[in-house]
Amino acid sequence: MANAILTGDASTWKNASLVSVSQITTEGLNLLMSVSKEMKELVQKNGGGDDRLNHHILGTIFYEASTRTSCSFQVAMSRLGGKFVHIDASGSTSSTKKGESLVDTVKCIEQYCDVVVLRHFQEGSVPNVALNASKPLINAGDGIGEHPTQALLDVFTILDELKPKRGQHLTVCLLGDLKHSRTVHSLVKLLAASDGLGMGLTINVHYCSPESLQMPPSIVQECSLTQRTFSDLNEAVQTADVLYVTRLQKERFESEVEYNKLKGAYVVDANLLSKTSVPKHMIVMHPLPRVDEISTDVDNDPRAAYFRQMQNGMYVRMAILALLLGKS
Ligand code: NCD
Repeated sequence: MANAILTGDASTWKNASLVSVSQITTEGLNLLMSVSKEMKELVQKNGGGDDRLNHHILGTIFYEASTRTSCSFQVAMSRLGGKFVHIDASGSTSSTKKGESLVDTVKCIEQYCDVVVLRHFQEGSVPNVALNASKPLINAGDGIGEHPTQALLDVFTILDELKPKRGQHLTVCLLGDLKHSRTVHSLVKLLAASDGLGMGLTINVHYCSPESLQMPPSIVQECSLTQRTFSDLNEAVQTADVLYVTRLQKERFESEVEYNKLKGAYVVDANLLSKTSVPKHMIVMHPLPRVDEISTDVDNDPRAAYFRQMQNGMYVRMAILALLLGKS
């Protein structure tokens, strides 16, 4: 199945795979945001879900660690009346250990399931597999490549938290390991390609990271946005509406020694947020898990949006499953 363009017409989503944010048009983003909003209402006000995906089965195949992404897809499926099977492809019970290829593993799970969520450590692997998939395949992270459903839930969170007006300015400060974090790779592409998040917003992006962990130049070049690079966090957040924090991606460093050199290079804490130079309305986001880059003394600050962001992941993934299975 080719990796289709996903538009405001729900029929373009039906049976499609979702592997990159670049598949989604502005109208497609608007559609997903409005279905996600309906899902939020369904869960919060209308009994927690419904049965539209009754008898549908989701397969989740993870070659890398996951808590939120796998659980939120499984819960999303369950809330819409479907069921799931989970394959921990990094674990000892997986056929990967017997030498089975990624393509074969996905092909097998497709025989049982209606939709598959796949995370793999190799960049480009999931989009590649999707080209020959017989069931909708969702990219839950391909190495340092993309994590499109995370970016979509991030955008939902930004819109839900800040409620920007059409045409307003929005400054997003991306902090941390921008080189290896697939979440910010997808997010900045989506910010750039969505006609101001479908609302005509004028979006500025501030990058703040250790020098060796900067946003890959290929992504900077691809994104037609005002992008500025900072080394000083205090300066980077001064005009920010969103501070998006990422952890150092330890598993992608060449060695523990290299990781330890940069560990603790930046920390968001209550002291930073109390500064008069930090906007009072600025939300703090993080895809989680956090290690030490956001101090727990930030958690009770109303601007700490990361746990709400995580909850939004469930609504957005309910919407994605419903759209790909033609039941929105
Ligand atoms: C992210 C990931 O796996 O890329 N986690 C997630 O999906 N919530 C971010 C991370 O692991 O740092």
